[in-house]
Amino acid sequence: MTVAGIIGGTGLGRIEGLEIIRHEELETPYGKPSSPLSHGRIDGSDVVFLARHGAAHSIPPHRVNYRANMFALREAGVEQVVAVAAVGGIQADMLPGVLALPNQIIDYTWGRKHSFFDGSPGKVTHIDFTEPYCETLRHTLLNVAQSSDIQLSDGGVYGATQGPRLETAAEIDRMRRDGCTLVGMTGMPEAALARELGLCYASCSVVANRAAGFGGKAIHMEEIQQTLNSAMINVETLLINWLKT
Ligand code: HPA
Repeated sequence: MTVAGIIGGTGLGRIEGLEIIRHEELETPYGKPSSPLSHGRIDGSDVVFLARHGAAHSIPPHRVNYRANMFALREAGVEQVVAVAAVGGIQADMLPGVLALPNQIIDYTWGRKHSFFDGSPGKVTHIDFTEPYCETLRHTLLNVAQSSDIQLSDGGVYGATQGPRLETAAEIDRMRRDGCTLVGMTGMPEAALARELGLCYASCSVVANRAAGFGGKAIHMEEIQQTLNSAMINVETLLINWLKT
C-alpha cells in the first residue's frame, strides 16, 4: 500500500497497535497543522497519523486548520486518508456505537477556510464533488470490515454542522428532511480539501449519540465520551487491518 494517512477525531488520539517511529513538526503555507505528524510503520507500510483536535484535544471543530492539516498530509506523501469522526445518529438505525461509512455530504458549515483555490494566483478551479468520498477506499474498508467481523454500515449522508454547540431538535429535523442520516462537525471542509489535493479520502463515522431530539433527552458529553471509548476498539482493529492490506 502507498503511504496511508489517518486523521483521529474525538476519542481517537492514538492508535493502539501502531508503532510510532517519529513525530514531525510541520509548517505549511496555510499555517500549522493541528498536531505534529506521527509517522508509523506496520507490516512494512508507512502510516501518518494526525490528531484533528490537537495532541491535547483543545481545538474545537470550527477552529481546526483543515487546510494546513490536509496540506501537511499531502506533503508527507500520503495518498489515502481515513478520517475518523464522531457523529450523531439521525437515521433510526444509526444508534450509539454504530460505525458508518457515509457516501454523501450536505455542508451546513460557514466561515471556514474551505478551499485551496481561493483566487490566487489568479486561477479559478472547480473540483468535481458529485461523489465526495473515494469509492475505492470505501470499498476497501468495507471488505476489511467484513473480513475482520466488524459491522460497518455502508453509505449515508453526512450533514456537516458548524458547532461547537450541538444542534437544536428543529435543526436536526430539517436535516432529516434534507436526507441527512448522520450529523458531525468536522467532515467539511476536510473532504473537499482532500479532493482538491487529489487525496483519496473516506470518513469512518462513529455514532456517539442519537442526534438532538431523537434520544428523548439532553445530550451529555460524558455519555458521548463513554460510547466513543468502547466503539474505538473496533475502529482501531479496522484501521490496523486496513493498514495491513
Ligand atoms: N451533532 C454534531 N456533532 C456530533 C454529534 C452531534 O449530535 N455527536 C458527535 N458529534
